[in-house]
Amino acid sequence: MKEKLEQLYQTISAEINNAATVAELEEVKNNHMSRKSELNNIRKQLKDLSIEDKKIIGALTNKISQDLQTLLDEKQEVLKTAERNEKLKSEVIDITLPGDYLPSGKMHPITKSINEIVQIFQGMGFSVIKHENSPELETEYVNFDMLNFPQDHPARDMQDTFYVQDRDNVILRSQTSGAQIREMLSHKPPIRVISPGRVFRCETVSARKHNQFHQIEGLLIDKDITFADLKGILNEFIKIYFEGARPTRLRNSFFPFTEPSCEVDVQCIMCNGKGCRVCSGSGWLEILGAGMVDVNVLKNVGLDPEEYSGFAFGMGVERMAMLKYAIDDIRLFFNNDIRFLSQFKGK
Ligand code: PHE
Repeated sequence: MKEKLEQLYQTISAEINNAATVAELEEVKNNHMSRKSELNNIRKQLKDLSIEDKKIIGALTNKISQDLQTLLDEKQEVLKTAERNEKLKSEVIDITLPGDYLPSGKMHPITKSINEIVQIFQGMGFSVIKHENSPELETEYVNFDMLNFPQDHPARDMQDTFYVQDRDNVILRSQTSGAQIREMLSHKPPIRVISPGRVFRCETVSARKHNQFHQIEGLLIDKDITFADLKGILNEFIKIYFEGARPTRLRNSFFPFTEPSCEVDVQCIMCNGKGCRVCSGSGWLEILGAGMVDVNVLKNVGLDPEEYSGFAFGMGVERMAMLKYAIDDIRLFFNNDIRFLSQFKGK
């Protein structure tokens, strides 16, 4: 029996040694270490031996079993590591390979400019008007009547404004100023809002004019608001937008819904006032219209002009973007030419 055990040890340990894969090793284990294995048969026969032999053979059987188990465990570890290394080697990634090109979207320059301008006014306490108070499809009543446009004002002409067919008095808004009316009708002062949006005019399209463009309207209504407040807010805006204080000038102007009214010019950012092609030699660039909200408008929305006053302003977004980024043709904003659009990075 002793020889048998030693021989078994030789055979099994050789098989363990020769196993080349984890699967092969598993087979050795199943053949020789299971209940039906020869080693286990010997274990079963131990009970028939004399006490003396039982001691010796029993101890030997245990030792051999343990040794084989140790051999098996060690070999298993070696094979597993080898197999893992092999797998890692075959899955290796070449990190020096150039990556795939993923084109990323860019912000449209008009959206970017609107965001920039809105942010500046938000920093001064203005909030963006609710969408429902600034519709693109507007009534003539809000776009003109409530804003104090007389019945025979030329802007009401079909040549200037797009009218909606079969709908009396419905137009594509020609200005964002209607938002002033809707805001004052739905909110009590103090009011401090801006309203960015698209407007439409029946224009022949050229490098300087388009039949659709964007405006940003501002409205502030409170007690004791004066023209000085308007000037202060606009100067602060210009300083931030054009990245530095610039000489500005207010020109007397007229809008039916503001009195007094003005237009604001900034010194030309291309030639610093010397006169160039962009400013048509004048040295100045017109950037917006503004004024104190007309008493008639306040009355139209049911506000007492003795109690409240305020100012409004409106600027063209395309114009602001053209000035800041030196763009000389408004049509570029609407052509969707990717070569133009991809130049604008942005938030
Ligand atoms: N709505 C005017 C325009 O389109 C601009 C403006 C707005 C002027 C607010 C004064 C006050 O030209």
